[in-house]
Amino acid sequence: MAVLRVTTVLLLVVVMTSKAVEFPVMNVPQLIQYWGYPVESHWITTSDGYILNYHRIPYGSSEKGHPRSLVRGKGHEGRQQQSKPSLAFIMADAGYDVWVANTRGNTYCRNHTTLDPDVDKEEFWNFDWEVAGLEDLQAGFSYVLETTGQSKLIYVGHSMGTSEFLAASAVQPEIQVMVSAAFLLAPPSYFDYNTGILVELAQYVDELEGAFEFLDLWELFPDFPLTSEVGHDLCDEIHLEENYDTCMSLADSIVGISPGNLNNSMLPIYFDSWPEGSSVKCLVHYGQLINSEHFFGRYDYGDANMEHYGQASPPAYDLSKITLPIHIFYGDGDTLVDDMDVEALASNLPNVKLLYKVPFEGWTHNDMCYAIQAPELVYSVIMENAAKYV
Ligand SMILES: *[C@@H]1O[C@H](CO)[C@@H](O)[C@H](O)[C@H]1NC(C)=O
Ligand SMILES: *[C@@H]1O[C@H](CO)[C@@H](O)[C@H](O)[C@H]1NC(C)=O
Repeated sequence: MAVLRVTTVLLLVVVMTSKAVEFPVMNVPQLIQYWGYPVESHWITTSDGYILNYHRIPYGSSEKGHPRSLVRGKGHEGRQQQSKPSLAFIMADAGYDVWVANTRGNTYCRNHTTLDPDVDKEEFWNFDWEVAGLEDLQAGFSYVLETTGQSKLIYVGHSMGTSEFLAASAVQPEIQVMVSAAFLLAPPSYFDYNTGILVELAQYVDELEGAFEFLDLWELFPDFPLTSEVGHDLCDEIHLEENYDTCMSLADSIVGISPGNLNNSMLPIYFDSWPEGSSVKCLVHYGQLINSEHFFGRYDYGDANMEHYGQASPPAYDLSKITLPIHIFYGDGDTLVDDMDVEALASNLPNVKLLYKVPFEGWTHNDMCYAIQAPELVYSVIMENAAKYV
């Protein structure tokens, strides 16, 4: 999920000078401090032993310790904190107690009480986003509510963060008691209309799974310090012009971006948190959905489905069980999450309060996180609606 640009874009442009900014290499807590916000690091252990690192921004610049909570989560949560106009900062400034909810396997969550992610690879990385959602959100939500003394929180998720949330809420509906409302940005669900590279890859999902297994490769896209070096040395403001094409195609191949919507001087900061890491199994689960027809459901274990689910094929998620208020944001330029698939998802959820197609032609999956226009077109709408639940 991700976020960060300002509602006062026009003002900033006026104030901007031609002096190039040089950013240090920073992790998420350092970045939060860099922009002048307080940050706390919290360690949360799940019932299956994973140790999650949540980053909390307890208050913003306007109020101290306002008693409201928010967890924002996605597969790749850390990415949100990239520039001051990020959703996390905007919400902190508005008085929310913001928790950046990292999930198992990403850069901040390669920890377990007994398993070593680099040694016990097959066991540590044996999770898809449903398991991550069930275990991590259960533990994370409980921890946040206990720590803040609140009874409910607001959840904001992007991409895999929405898959975790939807799967967990359908399989374990009790989890919704802790959440007053959910905001889902670019939620993958059905894959009947999407295009793009994943569709091509998905045809080979069984072969890929076998190949990864053969190679003893269970972790996907771990943090790779070289991308950070490249970002700072070649794609900073001073060098960007001469390396423009290289930087853009690199950024695009790592996360998928809309070059025109990006604040280029922020590139070194973006590169610091790309990529962020997950399990191969998360990708395989998406591949299975892409290969099936109008199916948003559980992991396909093949011959072992009977053992897992008591039936020969994996069950679909029972979306009618997701009864909390849902707000969905999507774009017409998202090749991963097609607008028609999102509309089908919305029509199967019983309590959709908002189905919002971002009013910008060609709005992509990651524009939700990085586009200069995101604060104005997306975050302001989140803020307006979130205010109804506090
Ligand atoms: C988690 O792992 C990181 C990196 O290996 C380490 O620095 C940190 O102390 C660990 N934290 C816990 C709570 O185990
Ligand atoms: C782009 O990022 C730079 C560096 O953080 C910032 O000073 C500038 O205001 C941003 N521009 C816009 C249009 O957001």
